[in-house]
Amino acid sequence: MTRGVDPVALERDRMSTMLKGYDREMGALEGLAYTALQELATRISHQNTGRFSGDPVADRIMARVAADENLHMVFYRDAFGAALEVAPSAAVAALERQMLSFAMPGEGIAGFARKARSIAEAGIYDLRIHHDEIVQPLLKHWGIFEIPRLDAAGEAARERLQAFVTRLDETARRFTERRAARLDAARA
Ligand SMILES: [Fe+2]
Repeated sequence: MTRGVDPVALERDRMSTMLKGYDREMGALEGLAYTALQELATRISHQNTGRFSGDPVADRIMARVAADENLHMVFYRDAFGAALEVAPSAAVAALERQMLSFAMPGEGIAGFARKARSIAEAGIYDLRIHHDEIVQPLLKHWGIFEIPRLDAAGEAARERLQAFVTRLDETARRFTERRAARLDAARA
């Protein structure tokens, strides 16, 4: 509406993304795990986009979109929670595969890496947010580290998941420090 972006370029990008489609090879358990992560990530990034827009109307629109994303997240989170009760070892293994390879569906968009970097640099969606607001709350909600009995494969997957979360936290800390240093340097 405000021509803050080039509407022709935006429409071309939209068409090319739709033409490419989206296909990620995965079974039902992995599909539920992936989608729970992705819907929560979408909710948080839409919310933050509105907040960072500096425009009260855009903020309200994005808050409304984020409220919808939350409903999607709750559905997949609870469906995966039910799967954990039925088949805990297989579900933990599926979750481990999806958490370690997680990428947003937008990864096929032209210039996605550059856009993801700008989004991280702005603090709309970065590793700290991914760790603190997506990965940790879901792991906690599902009680992944409290599930009493897993088979050998499930237990091994849970250990890899634990190591991944520790690594993610460490990488997020380094990213946040480097970003703060870049901001300081830009101000000086
Ligand atoms: Fe959604």
